[in-house]
Amino acid sequence: MTNRTFTMIKPDATEKGHTGGILKMINDAGFRIVAMKMTHLSSEKAGQFYNVHKERPFYSELVSFMSRGPITAAILEKENAVEDFRKLIGATNPAQADEGTIRKLYAASIGENAVHGSDSDENAAIEGDFFFSRLEQF
Ligand code: CMP
Repeated sequence: MTNRTFTMIKPDATEKGHTGGILKMINDAGFRIVAMKMTHLSSEKAGQFYNVHKERPFYSELVSFMSRGPITAAILEKENAVEDFRKLIGATNPAQADEGTIRKLYAASIGENAVHGSDSDENAAIEGDFFFSRLEQF
């Protein structure tokens, strides 16, 4: 079934100039970009996005990292999008990511891990709607 996932290219990857390389990997893997924008999250917005992790010890570090510079947010469409995108990005910790994955190539650490990918269809819809109005989703 064709479905959608949500991604962010995070501030670490943006700072290092990896946005184009990551988008090429996404395209080459067969994902269709149906919404995209570059933006800079305030710490309030980053906190809202990651509210589910509020009780985790790394939450404040995560919020300050995600608001320190621009990100690229996008909605991606493909058959089996959520699962296939998580395979393409690799494990949260780049030290455990498979060869050829985005995080293996571009991520530095478990915190600064280059990209985000939704973990379910339900969260993909919530996260996509966080960034894009219906008029901006194609
Ligand atoms: P992401 O897939 O965007 O979802 C939650 C984020 O929290 C994760 O990527 C990492 O950026 C961050 N994160 C997860 N685990 C840790 C950790 N142990 N220490 C620091 N940051 C983490």
